[in-house]
Amino acid sequence: VDVVVIGCGYVGLVTGVCFASLGHDVLAIEIDEKRADLIRSGIPPFHEPGLEELLQKALAEGRLRIGNDINDSLHGDVIFLCVQTPQGSDGSLNTDFLVAAARQLGDVLRGDPRRRVVVVRSTVTPGTTEDVVGPALGDGGSVAVCANPEFLREGSAVADFMEPDRVVVGGRRSWAIDMVADLYAPLNVPVIRTAPSAAELAKCTSNALLATLISFSNQIARIAEHVPGVDVEDVLDIIHRDRRLSPVVDGETISPGILTYLKSGCGFGGSCLPKDLSALIRYAASVGEPASILEGAKATNDAQPERLVAAAGRLSGGLQGKAVTVLGLAFKAGTDDLRESPGIRIVELLLAEGASVTAYDPLVSAAAVAPLSERGMKISSDLRAALSDADLCVVTTLDAEFEGLHESLSGADGGPLVVDGRRLLDPDRFDEDRFVAVGRHPRSSAGRPAGERG
Ligand SMILES: NC(=O)c1ccc[n+]([C@@H]2O[C@H](COP(=O)([O-])OP(=O)(O)OC[C@H]3O[C@@H](n4cnc5c(N)ncnc54)[C@H](O)[C@@H]3O)[C@@H](O)[C@H]2O)c1
Repeated sequence: VDVVVIGCGYVGLVTGVCFASLGHDVLAIEIDEKRADLIRSGIPPFHEPGLEELLQKALAEGRLRIGNDINDSLHGDVIFLCVQTPQGSDGSLNTDFLVAAARQLGDVLRGDPRRRVVVVRSTVTPGTTEDVVGPALGDGGSVAVCANPEFLREGSAVADFMEPDRVVVGGRRSWAIDMVADLYAPLNVPVIRTAPSAAELAKCTSNALLATLISFSNQIARIAEHVPGVDVEDVLDIIHRDRRLSPVVDGETISPGILTYLKSGCGFGGSCLPKDLSALIRYAASVGEPASILEGAKATNDAQPERLVAAAGRLSGGLQGKAVTVLGLAFKAGTDDLRESPGIRIVELLLAEGASVTAYDPLVSAAAVAPLSERGMKISSDLRAALSDADLCVVTTLDAEFEGLHESLSGADGGPLVVDGRRLLDPDRFDEDRFVAVGRHPRSSAGRPAGERG
């Protein structure tokens, strides 16, 4: 075995499967036996494009084994810790799982003279690899620690692993950095060698930047909502066309992926952005540095679902007893991940307002939202059926399936009222008094040049 991966969540499983498909021998260890059995049978425990095929191939070729005993990691040269680092009550990242895995690993590796690297791939704040994980491993002269943060996005995790913008390896010993970097050699991408804390801070910074761009866009959206004739999408489009954001190369304008974060919506969610932003705020406080920009980004995001539900209430003249269909439950399109999802928060708020809520999400199963069903939410597996009796519908993800909604939404009676929480729909296809979108004044057509689209 070359590589051991500890923890088979999004990060661990994708890391293990992708390393196996690059030709390495991988042992992936998962403590949750049910999850381990599922993976062993070739089924990933979550939806991720391309993962199932690669997993089955790696298992069939014998390049990937799934274990549940950390003692087996003795065979590994490079051992990746990919366990969860959930948000603690004070906003910091909880390192209990990381420390528990490192302690166990320390017991296994103690006294063995072979050179190995223990790599922290979980997201952590600066100092964790050297000051928390290193000591938990115990004194192992032949064991070095490195930080190698994962930058994958759910929904494109395999592609992100296989074609990373850069691989970051933070370490103190060059032989250890080399061992980690060598694993990525088949990818032929730049490997940035740095200090462990720099790698850790870079990961937190990356997510804090994305979160801040989203909240920045939603802040501008809130201002735009007060100005008749203004639509934040038009405003942000003007900003996007700045050549510093959309460079012109060989006469062609390039639209970089970062611009998708300069867009208004119902706020960011998922297992990373909210948690990592809070962690960086907490870390800043711990070193005595106020982080007002980051705090503002968090506050703006926390309030965004409430704003949408308030807008839905104004549009419908009160939500009590209304049939509301929520389109999208996952935190974004293309994933079934419900963690910190604005869609879930919106459902909770609608239920609290007395609405009768039906939800539709092409990737989310009824079982995954059982607690909300117990509170009265209905889940539909058919988009048309979900909308058939709705008084109002709220769009919370940019799912391609929702794009043609104006067709099905504009029945003889005008169809349900619409709150576009993601700026997916073309406002010009809807009657002004039946449609509200984030960042758009309710009477937005007034004051615009005739015939111009929003
Ligand atoms: N999900 C993402 O998109 C993403 C992206 C980049 C970084 N990260 C970071 O990576 C880390 C893991 O995230 P995730 O989403 O994969 O988490 P996850 O909760 O989906 O998976 C963690 C897995 O580790 C297992 N585990 C815990 N302790 C173990 C032990 N001692 N031995 C074996 N298995 C153990 C758990 O049972 C679980 O299956 C977190 O720090 C997260 O912030 C996540």
